[in-house]
Amino acid sequence: MDKIVIKGGNPLKGTVSVSGAKNAALPALASCLLAEGRHQLSSIPRLRDIDTIRRIMSQLGVGFHDRGEVLEVDSTRITNHEAPYELVKTMRASILLLGPLLARYGKAKISLPGGCAIGARPVNLHLKALAAMGVDMHLDQGYINARAPRLKGADIFFDTPTVTGTENIMMAAATASGVTVLKNAAREPEIQDLARLLRRMGADIEGDGTDTVVIRGVPELGTARHEIIPDRIEAGTFLIAAAMTGGEVRIEGCLPDHLEAVIEKVESAGAGVKVLDRALEVRGPDVLQSVDIKTLPYPGFPTDLQAQFMAMMAVADGWSMIRETIFENRFIHISELKRMGADIEINGSQALVRGKRPLLAAPVMATDLRASACLVLAGLVAEGGATEIHRIYHLDRGYERLEEKFSLLGADIRRVNA
Ligand code: EPZ
Repeated sequence: MDKIVIKGGNPLKGTVSVSGAKNAALPALASCLLAEGRHQLSSIPRLRDIDTIRRIMSQLGVGFHDRGEVLEVDSTRITNHEAPYELVKTMRASILLLGPLLARYGKAKISLPGGCAIGARPVNLHLKALAAMGVDMHLDQGYINARAPRLKGADIFFDTPTVTGTENIMMAAATASGVTVLKNAAREPEIQDLARLLRRMGADIEGDGTDTVVIRGVPELGTARHEIIPDRIEAGTFLIAAAMTGGEVRIEGCLPDHLEAVIEKVESAGAGVKVLDRALEVRGPDVLQSVDIKTLPYPGFPTDLQAQFMAMMAVADGWSMIRETIFENRFIHISELKRMGADIEINGSQALVRGKRPLLAAPVMATDLRASACLVLAGLVAEGGATEIHRIYHLDRGYERLEEKFSLLGADIRRVNA
């Protein structure tokens, strides 16, 4: 298995471009099941998770044709309605196929996604909402067997804002008979991006980006051409990396509006951040200030940047309290950071980070996607040799050639085929 080797100490300098958002690309691909024909999606990132959903959709009968920057998705002939456990277990977002398959074909058999490193991650809210829309479901051998002769609009209230839950129901409701009102909906930019794509396909959706989304079912949808929004979590990862290495970096092709909570916290840590139309320029401070953060649904501080921000607080001047409110087990990176000398104390959903320098180079193990990014950032500032990060297949799920992008910014980082 590959590993990444980093010799820390280089401030990051230069310009880096952001890829398309993984968490917008996954629902966009799933939505192509809703309408027969050839869809054109651009800025789809080259990631393991994208490979996984393409494999599952290919097994359903979908054809994929890479045409340079555009990915053509041909959903003309669907021959199968089952997403197998072997693939779903590697990517929980496969649950996003459930809504579109039911909307188009009235049936689906999807392996119930298990938990993952960061938490149990149930899909009960997805299933409860689909049941309200007339879907008959039963669990058999770990698979959700779902049938719906005709989806009907419903009034749905989510106990908690769920990103893929909101996306699944938006797709299911697009051609349902009647109106679906989704309350306490998630507000993430990726949901707004999906709504834009669905409207291009002919859907009647409003309120996306607020906590109430209204979807009026239409008889059928058509194909569309769509460009995926930039990845705000990748952009935020570079923002934090530049700040914590005391560097000077221009982050091209991002949407600063999607990062307001993160920019505010990075500035509070002492970095200078210049906001441009589709770019950010960040200059790291000589001394990082400690800052408290609490993760929240959008537009609050994103849980997907909590681990990366913690790496920066580990070398800041002072103590910071980091509170994780979205997932119940998203502190796994802390044990690895402590092996690098970080002084962090966990107390339930809160972690007290006593900033100190230096972090010390060490062999560490990635456990999940964003924990991997956290360890890369820690390696960029660690002293005393080379940090080796193992099990980086986790990293490749959500970052496109991350080590190459950091290397172009002056980091001493390389991937080693172990
Ligand atoms: C999406 O996951 C993202 N994944 C996650 O990114 C992200 O961390 C998460 O949203 C929160 O922003 C994709 O978009 C593919 P949720 P999702 O449903 O939709 C609870 C990454 O690193 N919940 O918004 O699965 C759940 O347990 C990944 O790119 C239920 O209880 O997350 C959690 O506590 C990691 N029942 C909270 O809601 C449900 O039916 C938010 O989860 C659904 C969710």
